[in-house]
Amino acid sequence: MRLTNEEQAMLDGGQGQATRKAMQILVALGRIYGADRMLPVRSVQIAGVSYDNLGDAGLEWLSKMADGGGRACVTATLNPAGMDIENWQKLGIPAEFAEKQKRVIDAFVRMGVTPTCTCTPYLAGNKPSLGDILAWAESSAVCYANSVIGARTNREGGPSALAAALTGCTPEYGMHLDPNRQPGVTVKVQASLVDTADFGALGKAIGEKLETLGHKAIPFITGIEAASMEQLKSFCASIATYGGLAMFHMQGITPEACDFGPPAGDHLLITSDDLERARRSLCDALPHEVDFVSLGCPHLSIHEVARVAGLLSGKRVTKEFWITTSRPVKATADQLGYTAIIEASGAKFAVDTCCVVAPICGRFKAMATDSAKACYYAYSKNKFRTRLLDFDRVIEEALEDET
Ligand code: F3S
Repeated sequence: MRLTNEEQAMLDGGQGQATRKAMQILVALGRIYGADRMLPVRSVQIAGVSYDNLGDAGLEWLSKMADGGGRACVTATLNPAGMDIENWQKLGIPAEFAEKQKRVIDAFVRMGVTPTCTCTPYLAGNKPSLGDILAWAESSAVCYANSVIGARTNREGGPSALAAALTGCTPEYGMHLDPNRQPGVTVKVQASLVDTADFGALGKAIGEKLETLGHKAIPFITGIEAASMEQLKSFCASIATYGGLAMFHMQGITPEACDFGPPAGDHLLITSDDLERARRSLCDALPHEVDFVSLGCPHLSIHEVARVAGLLSGKRVTKEFWITTSRPVKATADQLGYTAIIEASGAKFAVDTCCVVAPICGRFKAMATDSAKACYYAYSKNKFRTRLLDFDRVIEEALEDET
């Protein structure tokens, strides 16, 4: 790889041991993927924040990088942590876990990383523009950044994202190169999509169909007339989970779709039956088994929080109900009075965290949610059965009697 003098100096240790380690990680990655050079990044999103995933080994590595003088030189935010940093007790998080989680956040803060813990950084102060070079980790945010915003990022891992934050650069390969952003398969959707849950089911149906056919190509999706930001974030989370995709194009909706147009060759069709099958496959719990309800995968926007407040106003929930969002969105909810309405109902804000990365494995029997991605991890990581429901139905589920 060709390095600039400044990059070479970092590699030689001129800016301390942590920056040297960071540059070693990026050079190794660049060599593996055949990159010729580094690109300057506009912002970074770091995953590997929950102590539930990191464990002591991860905490130790982060502390070492902070002790070694690592310092972020670009905007860098964090993925959700394993708990609400301020109100962890309310969520039943053990004190020992909280102490370790705080040390993780402290290590990031010492490195100059903004401790906004969210998977929707684009709604919380880290919003890129078309064409920006990023180094983001968090599959749903990566897919959103590439597809909906038209910024450019590979699916970074926790260490490579932190390395990009400390050096301000990332190797040029993968999604940074024009040819790798071209669609390779057309997917025609012939189904009506109304709710965020429908878009999650669509992501599952497309992702699994492409996986089954062994397609690694970027899909060019047609047949969808309109999609809100909330529906697109649900779709991104799902297609990244079930199809492993970092990008898609959606005709008339995503910015680079018009640069390319539909590719010649393979066509796939997604029908209402496919969608219904995808939804059914995420409903293996019976209604009376649901003892946990969660909205906010990916983290809720302020519009969604407003909708929750409207539906919970003057009512009492009968089940543990987590509303997961970022701290900046929660601050707006506080100002607008939504927080008071929601908390009066007995529902809980779970800020900075989510139902997947919090240490709640085995704590509940079954979860109701509108998120196809949350269903996947609820089952695989936390051993819950699931019910994928429309957004408003999830709230009804939280209000229903347990009898
Ligand atoms: Fe975000 Fe957690 Fe879902 S990180 S995308 S809310 S699994």
